This record gives sequence, structure tokens and C-alpha cells, in this order.
Amino acid sequence: MIVRLGVNIDHVATIRNARGSSYPEPVRAAELALAAGADGITAHLREDRRHISDADIAVLTELCLKRGKPLNFEMAVTDEMVGIALQARPHAACLVPERREEVTTEGGLDVVRGQNAITVATTQLREAGSRVSLFIEADPAQIRAAHAVGAQVIELHTGAYCDAARAGEVERAKAILERLKTGAALASSLGLEVHAGHGIDYATVKPIAAIPQIAELNIGHFLIGEAIFVGLPQAIQRMRVLMDAARHEAAA
Ligand code: PXP
Repeated sequence: MIVRLGVNIDHVATIRNARGSSYPEPVRAAELALAAGADGITAHLREDRRHISDADIAVLTELCLKRGKPLNFEMAVTDEMVGIALQARPHAACLVPERREEVTTEGGLDVVRGQNAITVATTQLREAGSRVSLFIEADPAQIRAAHAVGAQVIELHTGAYCDAARAGEVERAKAILERLKTGAALASSLGLEVHAGHGIDYATVKPIAAIPQIAELNIGHFLIGEAIFVGLPQAIQRMRVLMDAARHEAAA
């Protein structure tokens, strides 16, 4: 099974927003990403709108519909975001924790503690036709709770693994990777589709892509950064090659 690649274009919007200008346009990056072989587009409409804007959601939705590719809408579990998602009806809604002061999404969603609110949001989003994914740590209690609230997908947070691997903390990285593997197997045994993302680069993608239950990786920051040097299509194509190689090597 090939692992799908969802390209997160938030940081194209970050550059645009840094100057309050109209460019670079996230939708142009999304179009280029799909043409280069991305299997879908991911975008996070944050409460503070520091990445994409409400208007971006409309044009990204239109583009993905036109290209027949999924839009994965990352969102906090708030009335405002659920309302926007119910209007936009993206292919997928990925519920993430969100704190205003964080630099990026830190840690996974606490589905165990937020069970009631997450059940309500999941039910509404599913009824509107979106696949619901929960961005969580590879913790068995969180995975079981994700299943219990009715999510169809979990996205495992790979940030800690990538940080440890990049820092050369070999034993720590190995232990976190084992948790990701066990978590993916547990989720799959419960009937959940397993995705993964956060912090992935060329150096960390292969061990993650080799986990057999993982169906999709969502990658943003590294690809947009790499695009400065080699262009977005080339960055995406190289990531794809590494993902496919990891799967083939794992199956061999
Ligand atoms: N998946 C989720 C749920 C995220 O919140 C993010 C970051 O917005 C990503 C994937 C992509 O992470 P990165 O930008 O570090 O590749």
C-alpha cells in the first residue's frame, strides 16, 4: 500500500501574512503541490488566522473539488471552527488542540478529557459528510477514546520523534518510534485509519512511512522551507520517493 502525501500549505500563508500582502497565494502552492503528485491539501484555520484566512478556505475547497483531491481542514474544537467546517464541508476535518501563544500545534488533542465536546463536534462533522480525524499522541488511552467518540481516522503526532531523531537522541527516538508503531497497530485493530504528521523532513520520513498501518502523512513546514531552495514540485517529489522507498524496503 502506497502512503498518501497531504501537503500542508499554511506557511505559504505565513509568508504572505508577514507583509499583509496578497502574495504568495496559498492556493497557487496547493495547485502546484497537486500537480507535483500531492494526494491532498492540508490547511489549518487558526483562531488568530495567523496562517490561512477564511477566504483561503473557500478557494482551497473549490480547487480541491475541481481537481478531485481531498482537502484536510485542521481545526480547533470550537463552535466558531465547527460552524465554518459545517459550511465548507471539507473532505476531512482534523481536530487539533490549539493555544493562542503556541508556535505550532504542541502535543495531541486530549480526547480522554475532552470526550463530550469532541463527540458532539465529531457527530456534527460526520453528519455534514466530512471524515473526522483526531490529532493525538500515540497513547493507547487516547486512541481508544478516539474510537469511542466516533472518529474514523487518527493522525499520530510525530513531532517528538522527529525532534529526538534530529537531535541525535538515538535511544529516545527509538522508544518514541516504538510507541508510534504500537499505536498505529492498536488503532488499525479498532478499525481506525491511521495518518501521521508534524515535524517530518527527509531525514525522518522513512521510519514513519515504513509503519505498515499508516495510510497518509501530512507534511508542511519542511516542504515549504525546502521549496525556497529547490522549488515546491521538486521538494514534494523527493519526499514521495523517500516515502515509497520506505514502504518497498519494509515490505521486502
Ligand atoms: N498535522 C497536523 C495535525 C498539524 O497540526 C501540522 C502542523 O500544522 C502538520 C500535520 C504538519 O506539520 P509540519 O508543518 O511540521 O510538517
